[in-house]
Amino acid sequence: MTGDARATAVLRNEHRLILKVLGVLERILDASLADAGHPATPDTEALGDCIAFFRLFTDACHHGQEEGVLFEALIDRGMPRTTGPIGVMLTEHEQGRAHVRAMAAALERAQHGGAEAWTALGQAGRDYIALLRRHIMKEDGVLFEMADRMITGPACREVCDRYHMACLEKLEGRTKAELEQLAESLLERYPPSRD
Ligand SMILES: [Fe+2]
Repeated sequence: MTGDARATAVLRNEHRLILKVLGVLERILDASLADAGHPATPDTEALGDCIAFFRLFTDACHHGQEEGVLFEALIDRGMPRTTGPIGVMLTEHEQGRAHVRAMAAALERAQHGGAEAWTALGQAGRDYIALLRRHIMKEDGVLFEMADRMITGPACREVCDRYHMACLEKLEGRTKAELEQLAESLLERYPPSRD
């Protein structure tokens, strides 16, 4: 099977971008929220951009493609919906949503003077980073390997066509390309270290 024919190729590429933005969030937290409750100069704009990226690109678009297209294709081929790898992935998507909601709520409180909110934001952010890194490792290494064996040939192309449609309606007026651009701008503001 060639690389670009894999039913998971689009999703694997998106994982790489999501991991980069998780790194951005980690660097923002390290820079401004390292000591709980005493932020130096929290970059509220960049934190808001990270939260928007995770809410729209990672969850609405990427998890939407997984849940609405790939997982359904695997369920059609006999994989259970509520147990096994899909059940675990769906549970982790819900946990991720809760962390992003907690980050957004804490950022809102923090901008209105709630000092405890920085601690809550830092905790939710670090929980989200840890969860998503483990989650992506499991998808790439386990579920997507199974998917690439189960979905091949014309079915693979059909799945890839449906990814595109899955993202169009759910991005609150922002295109997927604009969200990728937002990620690039975050990476310019908070580049990875060269170590
Ligand atoms: Fe994923």
